[in-house]
Amino acid sequence: MTDSADPIAGLDLTEQAALGSGASFWTTKAIGPVPALMLTDGPHGVRRQSGSATDHLGISGSEPATCFPPAVGLSQTWDPDLVERIGRALGDESRALGVHVLLGPGVNIKRDPRCGRNFEYFSEDPLLSGTLGAAWVRGVQSRGVGASLKHFAANNAEHDRMRASSDVDDRTLREIYLRTFEIVVRQARPWTVMCSYNRINGVYASENAWLLTTVLRDEWGFDGLVVSDWGAVADRVTAVAAGLDLEMPTTGGLSNAEVVSAVRAGSLGADVVARAAGRVARLADKVTEMTCTATVFDVDAHHELAREAAQRAIVLVQNDGDLLPLAPAPLAVIGGVAQEPRYQGGGSSHVNPTRLDVPLEEIRRLAGDHPVTYCPGTDIAAAVGAAESADAAVVFLGLTAEEESEGYDRGHIDLPADQLELLRAVVQAQPRTVAVLSHGGVVRLDAVADAAPAVVDGALLGQAGGGALADVLFGVVNPSGRLAETVPLRLQDSPAYLNFPSESGHTVYGERIFVGYRWYDARDIPVAFPFGHGLSYTRFDYSGLEVDPTEEGLSVRLTVANTGTRPGREVVQVYAGLPGSAVARPVRWLAGFATVTVDPGEQRTIEIPVSRTDLAFWSTDAGRWVLETGRYSVSVGASSRDLRVTATVAVAGDEPRSPFTRDSTLGELLADPVAAKTILAVLDSASPFGAADSALGSNLLRMLESVPIGRMAAFSAGQVTREQLDELLAGINAQRS
Ligand code: BGC
Repeated sequence: MTDSADPIAGLDLTEQAALGSGASFWTTKAIGPVPALMLTDGPHGVRRQSGSATDHLGISGSEPATCFPPAVGLSQTWDPDLVERIGRALGDESRALGVHVLLGPGVNIKRDPRCGRNFEYFSEDPLLSGTLGAAWVRGVQSRGVGASLKHFAANNAEHDRMRASSDVDDRTLREIYLRTFEIVVRQARPWTVMCSYNRINGVYASENAWLLTTVLRDEWGFDGLVVSDWGAVADRVTAVAAGLDLEMPTTGGLSNAEVVSAVRAGSLGADVVARAAGRVARLADKVTEMTCTATVFDVDAHHELAREAAQRAIVLVQNDGDLLPLAPAPLAVIGGVAQEPRYQGGGSSHVNPTRLDVPLEEIRRLAGDHPVTYCPGTDIAAAVGAAESADAAVVFLGLTAEEESEGYDRGHIDLPADQLELLRAVVQAQPRTVAVLSHGGVVRLDAVADAAPAVVDGALLGQAGGGALADVLFGVVNPSGRLAETVPLRLQDSPAYLNFPSESGHTVYGERIFVGYRWYDARDIPVAFPFGHGLSYTRFDYSGLEVDPTEEGLSVRLTVANTGTRPGREVVQVYAGLPGSAVARPVRWLAGFATVTVDPGEQRTIEIPVSRTDLAFWSTDAGRWVLETGRYSVSVGASSRDLRVTATVAVAGDEPRSPFTRDSTLGELLADPVAAKTILAVLDSASPFGAADSALGSNLLRMLESVPIGRMAAFSAGQVTREQLDELLAGINAQRS
């Protein structure tokens, strides 16, 4: 079927309405020439349920599939190529399991560390989230399987998620919360987008015509299908009119009948229903071209890929005295997670893994002939004894599955007190102690880092994480992961602390664009570990920074040298800033990044492009991205607070040149070189302002800055008439155009 052919020719209104809602929990209907579709979660594995027990909360079982690192781990790789390879593997598994649309990626911004679903999202930064999300979509769709970009939009908490309104101003939405989606839609063209449960500024996402049509389709050019999150539709008729195409799961025909009645009553256009049905049919046509059941997937190869991803995701947070990597020697391994790994989160994304690497076993394998004593850590005396008689101790800490999940948020970000007590006791007996962390949402690390000389953050690593952790501990792999989220010293320091979760059905996004490191840097708040942080077993030097404007934005070039003794991968981060910007801006923001692998003693020159949009701000007045003219600072470093080289570059902007009107303030006019000359001359001659060198001193001028020029007629008691002002403005506008 081609795009121009009518995919729903011959289907009547009832059939068209029926196409717009599910046949079952996971499938759409086969009607006429339109085949049924199977949709399944996502994102870090294929959760294909085959029995009659179906759910979207991770309760009932599913077919075995590779459990790749969830987004919290994957994002720490900062590696879009790797994420795209994982996407391809997920696409292959989807095909083998008969899945047409895989429900992911989840690209919501981690606004607050307490959000229960942060493990399923990439980052607090829109560029990092969007770039990785786009890679995921490209990979999956390259296999003929549709992606479903979710949860669109501003779904940043689990509390009251099916009703609460995210109250966000336009600029914040555009620069932070919509930006991730925009990047993915523009770069990777997902075949479907999933609208979220929540309201945005009072309107349900599923009924939000501005969101689903004006922004998504008209501005970003999305031409795929909009599916609801499971159960997100409060009123299907309003939703279809706003741009929803498919309601999931089935409503047993209830909402189809409502749609048909609305068309018959004239309150919903028949063309709108036909358009939605057409999009379902086109998607079905596209994805069922592949042979869903004809392939099997390579379980071993995918496990290896999951391990590679986990290796790259692990962040070496601290390594005092170069305690790591460990040489094979007698070891004490402490903590239940070493034997029963915590490797994914709870809820709809819960995957039934094809196999599971156990950290303890993998550590034993790499320890060779040396004894590895294991203690669950419930008996502190036993753990201390084991640590004392070993050469080093590895203590596994983290959150339990019950503490964080889809469906609810956390109330704090602390590790359990008994775990910290255990760690401190072990370190006292064995100073060579490494703390290894497993968690989906960020946890406080200051106490851990105070106690243990070495800290390894595993976040959630998927089914092969156990092997990857052992590889990093023993130096088989040189760690190169970087934090995709700031670790604050205290929850009270975090940006949305006072506005989380919702209250009376509203979540006020009062911190505006100052999310994550944007907040901590603007407020100069010390953090435990900054965004982008991560150590290596080698050292990298940065030099030779050159920044040049290009048509697309900036070209950033520099040389990265490996001055240590091991090969390593460095995540090179470019941060931009604009001192003196006309609007409130972060001190610096991530504008580009790249990874580079360098051998010891070698160096590599890399180029990182920065797009104009990644320098711009969203102007609410102009209703578009505006690039300010100015001297931008460009810093490149190994984290947001470890900037190694800095340059400044002049950028020619594209500020709107709106004509001045009577409503323009004196300040605005005086800021314009052409207008300033004329205006100062007029003010000089007009009583009661007097001459510029006397009454028009700088204080008076400053006091007058916010006065609209039109008011001068009255203030000057008729010395300057409205007509004269209009003439003056017309003259200025003519000179400026
Ligand atoms: C989740 C979605 C998921 C859907 C289907 C919902 O509860 O929010 O992310 O894709 O269920 O399981």
